[in-house]
Amino acid sequence: MKKKSIIVLGSTGSIGTQTLDVARWQGYHIAGLAAGKNSELLLQQVEEFRPDIVFSAAPLPPASLPEGTILAASASEVAAYPADVAIAAIPGLAGLEPVRASLSTGKRLALANKESMVAAGELLWEMASEYGSEIIPVDSEHSAIFQALVGEKISEVAELVLTASGGPFYGKDISFDDVSPEQALAHPRWNMGPKVSIDSATLMNKGLEVLEARALFKVPLDKVKVVIHRQSYVHSMVRFIDGQLKAQLGPTDMRLAIQYAISYPARLPTPLANEPLAPTLTFEQPDSKRFPALELAYEAGRRGGVLPVVLNAANEVAVNAFLQGRIRFSGIPALVADTMKSSPSLELTWDNLFAADEWARQKAEELI
Ligand SMILES: NC(=O)c1ccc[n+]([C@@H]2O[C@H](COP(=O)([O-])OP(=O)(O)OC[C@H]3O[C@@H](n4cnc5c(N)ncnc54)[C@H](OP(=O)(O)O)[C@@H]3O)[C@@H](O)[C@H]2O)c1
Repeated sequence: MKKKSIIVLGSTGSIGTQTLDVARWQGYHIAGLAAGKNSELLLQQVEEFRPDIVFSAAPLPPASLPEGTILAASASEVAAYPADVAIAAIPGLAGLEPVRASLSTGKRLALANKESMVAAGELLWEMASEYGSEIIPVDSEHSAIFQALVGEKISEVAELVLTASGGPFYGKDISFDDVSPEQALAHPRWNMGPKVSIDSATLMNKGLEVLEARALFKVPLDKVKVVIHRQSYVHSMVRFIDGQLKAQLGPTDMRLAIQYAISYPARLPTPLANEPLAPTLTFEQPDSKRFPALELAYEAGRRGGVLPVVLNAANEVAVNAFLQGRIRFSGIPALVADTMKSSPSLELTWDNLFAADEWARQKAEELI
C-alpha cells in the first residue's frame, strides 16, 4: 500500500517533533515542513526527511536546502502543497491562515491548533464542506471523543466529558501572585510547548478545549462538561442519553492521538502497544473559583459571536506578558476578563474575526 504523505506545520515544536516520530514509525513521506525560529532543528529534519517544500520564519543560511527543495514564502504555501494530511501545530491564531490554506485544498487536516477551532469553528466547517476536506482532532481529549463517537449518533449524546489533569497547581496551597514562569511551565503529565503549558496551569487550556469541543462536534455548550482526572489516563468520555458512557483510555503520549488523526479509520501498531494499565482512576469537580479561566471560556461561548476570538486573543497577550515577567500569574485570567468586559458584540464572519482579534490584542496591551 502507498505510504501517506504528510505536511507538518510547526515541525520543530512539541507536536511537530512527535509527528515526525510517528512518521519514523510508519515510514510516512514528509511532503512539507514549516517552522519558526529554530532553523537548526528544521535543517536537521530536512536532512533526514527530504521534504519537497519548506518554510522557515527565520532566515536560512544560503544553499542550506538540498537541490530541488522549494523554499516557501509562508507556512500557508506549505499547507496548500499537495499531500494526504496536514498536521496543524503552529500555536495561537498565527496557526489560522495555514489551517485555512490546508482546508482549501481538500486534504485531511489533523488539527492540533485548538485556537483556530475556538475562534473560527463554524467558518472552518463551512470551508471544509465547500472543499470536501476532513478535520480530525489531534488534541488528546477531542481525539478521545472522536473515537468514542465512531458508530454513534450525535443526537444520542447527552454530554461530552473532557478530562483535565489540573496542571501543576491543582490542589496545591500556593499563592497565584508568586508563581514563576518556570513553575507554571512544569506540567506534571505532558511535555508541551510554552503557550499550552501556561494555559494548562491556568485551566484556560480546558476552557479553550470546551469551546473547541462545542465547535468540533457541533453540540450545545451546556453539553460540554469538565472533570479533574489527575492521572490523565482517561483522555475524555461521552455520556449517551441512556446513561451509558464511552471513554477512551491510554498512555499519556500525544503520538497516539497524532497517529490516529493521520491513519483514521485504520489503527496501526506502535511501540506503545503494551504499556501497563494505570492503577487508580479518580474524578472530581473543577474548582472554578480558584481557576476562573474555565468559567470565562463558558461565558465567551454563551455570549457567542466574536467573544471566543476576544477571549483567545486576550489570553495570548496575557500568556506572553506573564512569560516576559510583565504581569503576575493571577493577572492572566484577570486581563482576559477585563478585555472581554468591553468587547464589541459582533456576529462571527471572517472580517469581524480579524477585527475582533486585533481589537482584543490592542485592548489587552493597553490594560497591562
Ligand atoms: N504539545 C502538546 O502536547 C499539545 C497537545 C494538544 C494540543 N496542542 C496544540 O498544538 C499546537 C502546538 O503546540 P506545541 O506544544 O507543539 O507548540 P510548540 O512546542 O511551541 O511548537 C510550536 C511550533 O510552531 C512553530 N511556529 C511558531 N510560530 C510560527 C510561525 N509564525 N510560522 C511557522 N512556524 C511557527 C514553532 O517553530 P520554532 O520552534 O522553530 O520557533 C514550533 O515548530 C497548539 O495550538 C497547542 O494548543 C499541543
